Amino acid sequence: METLKGKRVLITGASGSIGSSAAHLIANSGAIVYITGRNEERLQATATKCQLPSNRVFVSDITNENSVKEIAAAILQDGGPIDILINAAGIGIIKPIEALSTEDFQKSIAINLMAPFYLIQSFLPGMKENKKGLIINIPGILGKTPMAGATAYSASKYGLNGMMKSLREELKRTDIRITQLFLGGADTHFWDTIDLRVQRDKMIVAEEAGRAIWFLCQQPLSGVVSEMILQPFNHQAI
Ligand SMILES: NC(=O)c1ccc[n+]([C@@H]2O[C@H](COP(=O)([O-])OP(=O)(O)OC[C@H]3O[C@@H](n4cnc5c(N)ncnc54)[C@H](OP(=O)(O)O)[C@@H]3O)[C@@H](O)[C@H]2O)c1
Repeated sequence: METLKGKRVLITGASGSIGSSAAHLIANSGAIVYITGRNEERLQATATKCQLPSNRVFVSDITNENSVKEIAAAILQDGGPIDILINAAGIGIIKPIEALSTEDFQKSIAINLMAPFYLIQSFLPGMKENKKGLIINIPGILGKTPMAGATAYSASKYGLNGMMKSLREELKRTDIRITQLFLGGADTHFWDTIDLRVQRDKMIVAEEAGRAIWFLCQQPLSGVVSEMILQPFNHQAI
């Protein structure tokens, strides 16, 4: 296993369930962790759990390109390029097409697709300079397989998957790895605003999704985990 000790890791969506859980495990393994999220109280709770100083905590809306650039500049100034970028920010708007507004669609694309693009634009140059790095995204199962009501969500997550597959081709001659986590339903805040009858008690526990990310961060450098599929045992969609 590759050690996390001393690795510089940025985790977006760290005010959320999966990001927070991954941040805790990764910080406990000795990494230098930076976190982002919008909800100040929840982000601070993660920071406290991980014992992070305030200069490693960024309350920010990462659908704003300038905000992402500012975070990148601050992290670079603090200690150089990051080794691992974990993008655990995202939203799920699941509605039939007649109920889906243009704003819903744009919001989905903004955080699930544009934000990862801004992050890559900002953090990839440092990885290239270091000649190594790891980028982990969570396209989820709906980034690979369709579901009724998921037109906006799947558009954003299939887009994310396509973008990363294409980028992987560009990075073939580098030591920069890309891992796509295709996650099935996990019991997190993600579902709080989704009007769908789901059995949250049968979903993956958020801490286990966080543990999967922690595991992915420690893969030996002789190979790459291009994809991981983790889905609830009783609801295997693919
Ligand atoms: N839970 C599932 O069943 C599931 C399944 C497949 C894939 N995923 C993916 O897993 C990732 C993590 O989701 P989760 O389940 O942990 O949900 P969550 O608890 O709702 O966390 C989502 C995170 O995204 C952040 N976020 C949303 N919009 C943002 C914005 N504009 N700027 C900055 N941060 C923003 C949230 O920050 P604030 O709360 O601070 O706004 C929060 O930290 C998402 O990409 C999601 O699509 C989840």
